[in-house]
Amino acid sequence: MGGTYYLLKEEGGGLYSERLAWWNLWLFSTGVFLVVAGYLYMGLSGHYSSLFSEGREYIEAPRWADLYLVAVFGLFLFNVFMTVRTRTGWDPITGLLTAGLAGLAFFYLFGMKFFKNMSMDFYFWWWVVHLWVEGCWELIAASMYALLAIRLFGFPRERAIKYLYIEAGLVLFTGILGIGHHYYWIGTPRYWLLVGGFFSALEPLPLLVMVLDSVRLAFRERGFSHPNLLAQYWLVGGVIMHFLGAGVWGFIQTLPQVNRWTHGTQLTAAHGHLAFFGAYAMLIIACIYYALPRWRFGHDGLDQKRGFLAFWLMVIGVMGMTLALTCAGTIQVFMERLWGLPFLEAQGYMGFFYLLRFVFGLLTATGVWLFFLDVLLPKPVTVEEELYKEPLVLEGFHVA
Ligand code: HEM
Ligand code: HEM
Ligand SMILES: [Fe+2]
Repeated sequence: MGGTYYLLKEEGGGLYSERLAWWNLWLFSTGVFLVVAGYLYMGLSGHYSSLFSEGREYIEAPRWADLYLVAVFGLFLFNVFMTVRTRTGWDPITGLLTAGLAGLAFFYLFGMKFFKNMSMDFYFWWWVVHLWVEGCWELIAASMYALLAIRLFGFPRERAIKYLYIEAGLVLFTGILGIGHHYYWIGTPRYWLLVGGFFSALEPLPLLVMVLDSVRLAFRERGFSHPNLLAQYWLVGGVIMHFLGAGVWGFIQTLPQVNRWTHGTQLTAAHGHLAFFGAYAMLIIACIYYALPRWRFGHDGLDQKRGFLAFWLMVIGVMGMTLALTCAGTIQVFMERLWGLPFLEAQGYMGFFYLLRFVFGLLTATGVWLFFLDVLLPKPVTVEEELYKEPLVLEGFHVA
């Protein structure tokens, strides 16, 4: 939300209502704080109550919080819509961003209906979980990558828009029916094996386009010459990790023939971590680092030493966790699924990799604390005025 506001504000003319944006921040934070406090209370007291949790993974927020958060999100959408309408103007980038955000709000509603039939319940549960991350979020991410690439790499807008069309087209083509890769084993009709396998196997394509696009851009002459190198690293690194986590780790288990053995193992958790870190965390941190020095100091000169340490700690940490979980998952698949050992017995053989995962988890956590410190207490450096004021025109990027 903050990233959207900031980037739209910079697109031109400010926000439709800055006051509403502040209300948005406080109302949303309060809601999330109350929800998390409820979970902690339940965990610590050991008493379950539907006042605090609905009990369904990822969308366990209680009903009052569902309604509250949808209302706050409506407020956010209204402000975004009006900002684009009255200030920045509609173009494919702002249009796609708004459409993706509206999609999040829309699909959230399907998680609010409860079915007694478990197959039905999971069928719609995935409308939230899968269509959020592999549908709406991919659109939001693609438009945010475009907005940031324009600013951080001097990417020509027309070219960004061309790529955006390709990416969005591919995402919608593969991602929507790709939902079938979650419908193999929950009691849905058999044709989902074919539909899910086929469409989800194509899902890495748009992600690959994003990587090719941004890496090529980054290694052009002057590509990495923006004074805010750290934000550039988070952006390009994020695109790469997004591809690895979603496009590679997701792909390896997406065919029914493979998923039959790997479903719900540590391989799933390995994929979940890398994909979320790359697609969500790194992009959001790129927005944060882009905005931070501009907002705090009015220029791009940020002392980046601490930030880079945090970057590498987090990237190596999450990658290490992912590899450790992948090894643990492989053992699990063999012992539990192929040899038929009981769950806990198989877990006993995975201890070494859980230990490794813990060590890399510590690295990740250290990086996160350092990052918080860096964001809360950023240090400025003075930059040569020309360096960041000079418009970036990259050779070979001219569009007819
Ligand atoms: C932004 C992108 C993505 C994110 C954040 C993401 C995240 C996740 C998460 C958290 C799960 C675990 C769900 C559960 O609790 O059961 C999951 C499952 C899965 N994902 Fe992804 N994913 C992404 C993209 C992809 C892509 C592109 C593919 C395929 C090419 C894919 C294939 C799968 C499969 C097959 C499963 C089910 C694994 C199982 O059967 O246990 N994902 N994903
Ligand atoms: C110190 C670092 C971390 C530790 C110790 C940790 C630990 C865990 C644990 C124990 C689970 C439950 C796995 C299960 O149910 O089998 C989990 C799930 C998950 N974590 Fe983390 N986590 C860490 C960092 C992260 C980061 C950085 C992200 C993403 C930005 C992330 C995203 C997720 C997701 C999406 C799931 C659900 C995956 C699934 O259900 O398959 N975690 N984590
Ligand atoms: Fe999915």
